[in-house]
Amino acid sequence: MRQSAPPPCCTFIHLGRVDAMLSPQSRRFRRPLVRTSPGTAAMSIRLALYQPDIAQNAGTLARLGTCLGLELHIIEPAGFPVGDAGFRRAGMDYLDRATIRRHASFDAFEAWRLAAQARLLLATTRGAVPYVAFRFAAGDVLLLGRESAGVPEPVHAAADARLLIPLAAGTRSLNVAIAGAMIAGEALRQLGGFPAGAAA
Ligand SMILES: C[S@@+](CC[C@H](N)C(=O)[O-])C[C@H]1O[C@@H](n2cnc3c(N)ncnc32)[C@H](O)[C@@H]1O
Repeated sequence: MRQSAPPPCCTFIHLGRVDAMLSPQSRRFRRPLVRTSPGTAAMSIRLALYQPDIAQNAGTLARLGTCLGLELHIIEPAGFPVGDAGFRRAGMDYLDRATIRRHASFDAFEAWRLAAQARLLLATTRGAVPYVAFRFAAGDVLLLGRESAGVPEPVHAAADARLLIPLAAGTRSLNVAIAGAMIAGEALRQLGGFPAGAAA
């Protein structure tokens, strides 16, 4: 069942905020917050999930975000309580350093994005532009669709670009976290945005 009561919206949350939604048992595994509000690295992009269905995929993308220095935006309602056991298991202790921003609705997300003057790049199996042919810019938001249904038409239409990972004939789609990782990798390669310390 989808969660019907999203949070007030639009403040960065870290584990302190997520913790409020955890059981006392889950809270035992919390580690101290070590990063407060790093924002987006100068030559980086942001990840966004449209009403994600599967906690483990969102947790995996939160871990990816921590490792690559990418904000993760979650557009609610999600199909799970953000911070639930599956989310934490996939995100592991990387969640302590993740920068996650929750938006109560797509409209709320759009209000933030327009204020941030960031382009919206939709990863979609209905995309027209192969992602490796696209020229990324710092601050771009890469939006990933729901596991079950992608995104609705108005969200599709709101995107500044629709990016495709070309697949073999007869196959339908990739796991959302894998699709996000592939496109984010190409964006960071173009922007020189991999974290310092990574091998050249
Ligand atoms: C499992 S897929 C969704 C499948 C859904 N039935 C659809 O048609 O959109 C989840 C998300 O992963 C991303 N994705 C998966 N495969 C992709 C591909 N080949 N190209 C671009 N994005 C992809 C998209 O953001 C998609 O909405």
